Amino acid sequence: MAEHFAVTGGARLQGSVDVVGAKNSVLKLMAAALLAEGTTTLTNCPEILDVPLMADVLRSLGCGVTVERDTVAIDVPARLGAEADYRSVSKLRASVCVLGPLIARCRRAVVPLPGGDAIGSRPLDMHQAGLQRLGATTEIEHGRVVARGDVLRGAQIWLDFPSVGATENILMAAVLADGTTVIDNAAREPEIVDLAAMLTQMGAKIEGIGTSTLSVHGVTALQPTEHRVIGDRIVGATWAFAAAMTRGEVTVRGVDPHHLDLVLDKLRSAGAETEAGTQEFTVRMDGRPGAIDFVTLPYPGFATDLQPMAIALSAVADGTSMITENVFEARFRFVDEMVRLGADARTDGHHAVVRGVERLSSAPVWASDIRAGAGLVLAGLCAEGVTQVWDVEHIDRGYPRFVENLQGLGADVERVLTDPL
Ligand code: EPZ
Repeated sequence: MAEHFAVTGGARLQGSVDVVGAKNSVLKLMAAALLAEGTTTLTNCPEILDVPLMADVLRSLGCGVTVERDTVAIDVPARLGAEADYRSVSKLRASVCVLGPLIARCRRAVVPLPGGDAIGSRPLDMHQAGLQRLGATTEIEHGRVVARGDVLRGAQIWLDFPSVGATENILMAAVLADGTTVIDNAAREPEIVDLAAMLTQMGAKIEGIGTSTLSVHGVTALQPTEHRVIGDRIVGATWAFAAAMTRGEVTVRGVDPHHLDLVLDKLRSAGAETEAGTQEFTVRMDGRPGAIDFVTLPYPGFATDLQPMAIALSAVADGTSMITENVFEARFRFVDEMVRLGADARTDGHHAVVRGVERLSSAPVWASDIRAGAGLVLAGLCAEGVTQVWDVEHIDRGYPRFVENLQGLGADVERVLTDPL
């Protein structure tokens, strides 16, 4: 038996939806807890598949972890294991972010290589280069990154690309290093700001938070803390695109609208009206969206995680859109599934050209990753008939209560258990 979402097109989404903590923050905050002996508690955590998977990784290092509804408590022992479990890490790519905290606390770290996935090869060369600059050695042995560093010393580090993961791992290693580390061309996503905020609460000394130059003054020890995870801007933006595509009106609560300035501006260019409040915003679209171009870039550019939503909107927009993907080389795989739904879309290298159609037509489609899955469901909301979206475990990894939230906004969507297609 396998699950799929049965999405009946036609409804205009109306109402409000609550968004909880960000997947791409909570997983790193869970890893950062390793930096201090004692219990760190995270609140406003999303109830998604990735959180218990990360808990398993931390347990394999000797931590006690409890996950109760939206609260995660991590009890970190004085003597921490330095070898993360192969099976747990292979299930969760993001768990590579234990590398920095382990090398900082244990002066040694053995972390299985997560490997590539549907959106790209995803090497770790910048993580390794940064840790080597701090004085560690890193090798790939038997499918694992093996890092050793008896003494970590502050250093000047330039990143070739503002990689989120590399910035996080280097930052978490540098907070307990001797001296000052400067990370130049650092990533500055809101999730990085959230991580730096929690590290500062734990006693770390970090300057330039939110900018592309982070200065980290190493300290000798950190303390456990309690931290509320920031709202998930990618989930919030997914609801914004859903409102625009279905010509509806949706209020999204629990996300800082400033984390979506560019996204909301883009939707206004497509003809939507938007209103921003504190930790909430509303998107309303009366007519058919107009075609606009999108270029994915590191923050504050247009997020690559919203590229499938941009393509789904363009597929029903009035006119032709060009979407340029600059972050992940294989993220256009999703377009093939959109074509199944009747989208007029073509790709060429980093570019996709999409000519909007009045109406898509339903078909069985397969989610290849979290965001592609959400994009296909949004497209199904604008298709004639019932679209079956398969491999929905991808969606469950990043979107808490997705079907229930859609139903709450008036969509006709069901989670169905049947024989696989
Ligand atoms: C994080 O991935 C997010 N994942 C991704 O979200 C997100 O798409 C990405 O940042 C960009 O915003 C998590 O936070 C768990 P990167 P990460 O390092 O850290 C290349 C989702 O759907 N690169 O910024 O892996 C890399 O291959 C996921 O929620 C190197 O070449 O992203 C990519 O092309 C998908 N060498 C680019 O940089 C390195 O050492 C950006 O990667 C590191 C990265």
